[in-house]
This record gives sequence, structure tokens and C-alpha cells, in this order.
Amino acid sequence: MNGFGKGIGTNDELQEIRMSKSVLVTGGAGFIGSNFIKYFLDITDYNIVNIDLLTYAGNLENLSDIEENERYSFVKGSITDRELITNLFEENNFDYVVNFAAESHVDRSIEDPEVFVTTNVLGTQILLDVTKCFWQIGKDEYGYPVYKEGVKFLQVSTDEVYGALGKSGLFTESTPIAPNSPYSSSKASADLLVRAYGKTYNFPMNITRCSNNYGPYQFPEKLIPLMISNTLEDKKLPVYGDGMQIRDWLHVKDHCSAIAMVLEKGVIGEVYNIGGNNEKANIEIVNLILENLNKDESSITYVKDRLGHDRRYAIDNTKITTELGWSPSYTFEVGIKETVEWYLNNQDWLTSVKSGSYQEYYDNMYSNR
Ligand code: NAD
Ligand code: DAU
Repeated sequence: MNGFGKGIGTNDELQEIRMSKSVLVTGGAGFIGSNFIKYFLDITDYNIVNIDLLTYAGNLENLSDIEENERYSFVKGSITDRELITNLFEENNFDYVVNFAAESHVDRSIEDPEVFVTTNVLGTQILLDVTKCFWQIGKDEYGYPVYKEGVKFLQVSTDEVYGALGKSGLFTESTPIAPNSPYSSSKASADLLVRAYGKTYNFPMNITRCSNNYGPYQFPEKLIPLMISNTLEDKKLPVYGDGMQIRDWLHVKDHCSAIAMVLEKGVIGEVYNIGGNNEKANIEIVNLILENLNKDESSITYVKDRLGHDRRYAIDNTKITTELGWSPSYTFEVGIKETVEWYLNNQDWLTSVKSGSYQEYYDNMYSNR
């Protein structure tokens, strides 16, 4: 078994809490969800049910090494399907719900915002509603719902809900919500609905807001896997605008350990920022990838900028590090090296996820840029 994040996981109390829970993970066939399911199965004795619609971004190959695990099961379906979610709750005594399911790509949200509202906002509301219904066991003297012991809903939100930063400053949990893209607006709406359920119904929840993830199984529409994939195919590397936009990169495994820690140790009702203190300009990332693949910079092409492009994101992770004892374990240099190697060693996976509608998407997004 792996350790349980950094700094916790060895005491009897935690072992006690960890025994035999049942977890509903949504969107578990995507990048972060699939990494999380494997990580959480590994460090706990819990049973996990994964519901995923298997959109273009969902891929059961991401989970092939655990599909036979008797503590894991998969259900194909949407978080917008109230009847299906209700059936799942009738069949399982869920203790935790971890909501990863989302449309997650900013560029797609600029082209076609509607599905972002349907999945990210309406889907989250339906999930909240059904979960509340099954977890509520009564009301207190003021009319507030009372819930089963030990249950929790964790909403996987994003740092993009805070909007963009200038050259200085960091996002804290009390930075005003000011999203700029249809994607981040839909995530902010979902985030605020979860908050509202916490405030209005005393619903047991946490919200995590994480910075940009990288690592194995990320769909090659996102910066890092797209640049690796294009380099492997000797294609141009499309850098938006001046390439000086900054993101705060976190290895997906560190995100998973943070989510697990918030689930088990997070104070009900709280929001936790997750980030690795690792700001890099996009062009630096592209150069590091080229360096790791022993290629020169000739394939870099500056293309038309993303509409409404957020200039800089950076997370203040003081709360989760000081209050819960979490810290990231990867340095970016090690993480990016391992990630490039993973894509080199898993070119069949890349080919497979790029078959079907990927080529159409790529041409549509990049051919006239
Ligand atoms: P992803 O696009 O790789 O995966 C999303 C998954 O959700 C896919 O498996 C897809 O099939 C599934 N899905 C989509 N619509 C669904 C629906 N209606 N019902 C059920 N499943 C559905 O995304 P990701 O990068 O793994 O992100 C996971 C979550 O983390 C998202 O909520 C995203 O907003 C959030 N997040 C991502 C990052 C990042 O850097 N990738 C950072 C912070 C937060
Ligand atoms: O900050 C967290 C967010 O990070 C998550 O909530 C989103 O789900 C996730 O997609 C990611 O959003 P970004 O827009 O930051 O990630 P993306 O990989 O799309 O782009 C990273 C940066 O790279 C951004 O400044 C745009 C730029 N870029 C991206 C692509 C795909 C390019 O310059 N060229 C490209 O081809």
C-alpha cells in the first residue's frame, strides 16, 4: 500500500475511519478521476462505484488494471440522470460522493457552452439533490436536515473559479469568485450550489479548488499531453498568444492525495485550495517538453490567442498544508520527466484516444488559428 498523502495515515484513528466505506465517484473514467480511483483503492479498504458517461474524455482503458478488482464497479451513465443516480443510492449505502464528472476543457466551452451548463451545473445539482435525499435522516428543532454519521460530498472544483491574477498575488479560499470562461463559470455555478447546500441544508460537504494538473492519462487536448503528442508526431506546437500565461502545475497524484485527505480529515463545510507552488509560463513548459524529448524549438508556432485568456493562476495552499498537513510530493522536474516517459511508453493509449472524433476536433480548433 502507498502512504496516505504526506504526514498522515499511520495513526490508529485514521485506520479506524478508513474501514469499509462505500464511495460514489463520478467522472472516474477521465484523467483525474481514474488516477483517483486507483489511488484510493490502493490506500483504503473501500468499495468504489464509478459512474461515467464515457464522453470523448472518458476512457475505460484508464482503469484496465483495476477492472477486475472486487471492490470496484463501473456504471455507464450521466450525473444528469436522476433515476439512475437514485437507483445507485438504492443499491449502495454510499458514505462519500466525489464529483469529478464535468466537461473540463476551456477551448471547447468557448465553442459550445451549453453542454457545460447541462453537465457541470445541472448534473451537480441533481447529484446534490439525490444525495441529500438519501443521506438525510431527520430534522433538528430549527428545521435543518440532519444526516447520517460520517457522510460527505466532495465537489472537485477548480482555481479557475477565481478568474485571473495580475503579475502578483495568489488565490486564497476567500478570493472573490470571478470566472471568465463558460467552463469556469459553469464550475463556479456548481461550486456555489454545493456551498448553498452546505449553508441552507447543513449538507455535509467540502469543496476543493485545484490548479492545473498534469500526469498520466490526461487527454491530449490539454497543453502538456497535446505538446507531447504533437512532438511525437512531428507536428507544430501551437502556443497561444505570447506564451507568457502562467499556470500553477500540480502532479495528478498529489491532487489525488489532497482529495483523499480532504475527504477524511477536511472540516465539514470548508473550501480547500490545492496547488503545488509551481508557477510556470506556458512557453517554459513547452521548452521543457522539447528538452525531455531531445528536440529543438523549431516546431513552436505562436497562434491566435484564446478568447478571454486568463493571464495567470497561482494558488495559496496555506490552509490545506497547515490545517490538514498535506503537501505535494512531486517536484515539477521529476513529474514532467516521468510524464513525458509515460506518454512515450503508452503511445497505443495516445493513438487510441486520438481515434474517432479527435482529428475533427483538432482540425476545427487549430487549422485556421
Ligand atoms: P476529464 O475531461 O479528463 O474527465 C471528465 C470525465 O467526466 C470524463 O470521464 C467524462 O466521460 C465524464 N463525464 C462528462 N460528462 C459526464 C456526465 N454528464 N455524467 C458522468 N460523467 C461525465 O477531466 P479531468 O481533467 O479529469 O477533471 C476532472 C474534474 O476536475 C473536473 O470536474 C474538472 O473541472 C476538475 N479540475 C480539473 C483540473 C485539471 O487540471 N485537469 C484542475 C482542477 C479541477
Ligand atoms: O486551472 C485548472 C484548470 O486547468 C482546470 O479547471 C481545467 O479543467 C483544465 O483544463 C486547465 O485549464 P487551462 O485552460 O489552464 O488548461 P489548458 O491545458 O487548456 O491550457 C493551459 C495553458 O496553455 C493555457 O494558458 C492555454 C495554453 N495553451 C493550451 C493549449 C491546449 C496553448 O498555448 N496551446 C494549446 O494548444
